[in-house]
Amino acid sequence: MKNTEGMLKENSLKGKVVIVTGGGTGLGKSMSAYFLKLGASVVITSRNMEVLNNTASELEKEIGGCILPLSCDVRDEVQVENVLKQTVEKFGEFHVLVNNAAGNFASPTEKLSYKAFNTIVDIVLKGTSNFTLAAGKHWIAQKVGGTVLNIVTTYAFTGSGYVVPSACAKAGVLALTRSLAVEWAKYNIRSNAIAPGPFPTEGAWSRLLPGELTEQFNPVRRVPLGRVGELQELANLAAYLISDYSAYINGEVVVIDGGEWLKGAGQFNALENVPPKRWNELDKLRKKT
Ligand code: HXC
Ligand code: NAP
Repeated sequence: MKNTEGMLKENSLKGKVVIVTGGGTGLGKSMSAYFLKLGASVVITSRNMEVLNNTASELEKEIGGCILPLSCDVRDEVQVENVLKQTVEKFGEFHVLVNNAAGNFASPTEKLSYKAFNTIVDIVLKGTSNFTLAAGKHWIAQKVGGTVLNIVTTYAFTGSGYVVPSACAKAGVLALTRSLAVEWAKYNIRSNAIAPGPFPTEGAWSRLLPGELTEQFNPVRRVPLGRVGELQELANLAAYLISDYSAYINGEVVVIDGGEWLKGAGQFNALENVPPKRWNELDKLRKKT
């Protein structure tokens, strides 16, 4: 058994229709691939139809199953409602919404224009609330349950400089997750979130650690386990959280980061840089005094 292997039993998601926003690339693509493998039908959306079509053909060829690519800017509620309409036309119903689409870049906050700040908040927070609201209204009206899985970040609860619009928006998504977990439980709608640490994707890393920053701030050095995440590890967690195996998990945010955020938080964690020899010397000094 390896961490790069699928974790759930065959057909664990059979009969489920899953919408994955930002499903054409990165984490969205790898989650979609695993959902398909587990028997789900998957709708992938983003703004770039060419990327979506390429991903859909690649996954259909590799895995088979049913994947529907639909163009949609999450900021536009009309386009969002249209995705749900086309999904219901094609599959009869949908059962899971994975809010994964995001926009981000690293910048000193004082250099941002108003538009730059709003763009990120619009994609991340409003995009997620648009899809969640549309899906929730539909599920409630149809009297069917549903599951929402939001992809946030660990700085949704710690905050972080240099990605401030994203931190504000992801914190909002986390509040949305926890609020609706309670309010919509009576409609049998579960809401959970995943907070990933560093998982290498072109979309995130090219924008957050451009140029020489990739090496200078190599995320591997911040992770106690000494490595970045494997895409399958995240896909395994996501598949579990949208499956019926996790039916009693509601309002949870699951961190999958190799211990990264806690390393930054623990007051004395930096003492790991003290070499073992120096600890022995310090011990002698302590005994002497
Ligand atoms: C400062 C910037 C900027 C940058 C854009 N802007 N990039 N400001 N630094 N690097 C400003 C623009 O100048 C403009 O403001 C405003 O933002 C909107 O830019 P547009 O290019 O017009 O917006 P749009 O075409 O909607 O593109 C959105 C985008 C783009 C976010 C800027 O990067 C994108 O499409 N991203 C999608 C994918 C993505 O970001 N993936 C990463 C997710 S990773 P002005 O005022 O000049 O007109 C993630 C990881 C979290 O979230 C944690 C990792 C550990
Ligand atoms: P990514 O490949 O850039 O994924 C972002 C996706 O969102 C893209 O497919 C993009 O497609 C789509 N998108 C952006 N703006 C959109 C809009 N307005 N409407 C619809 N779709 C839009 O990056 P990723 O690393 O896989 O990120 C996926 C998720 O994981 C994000 O929520 C991110 O915050 C989170 N995350 C990632 C990491 C990491 O280390 N990779 C860590 C923590 C959290 P288009 O641009 O074609 O529309």
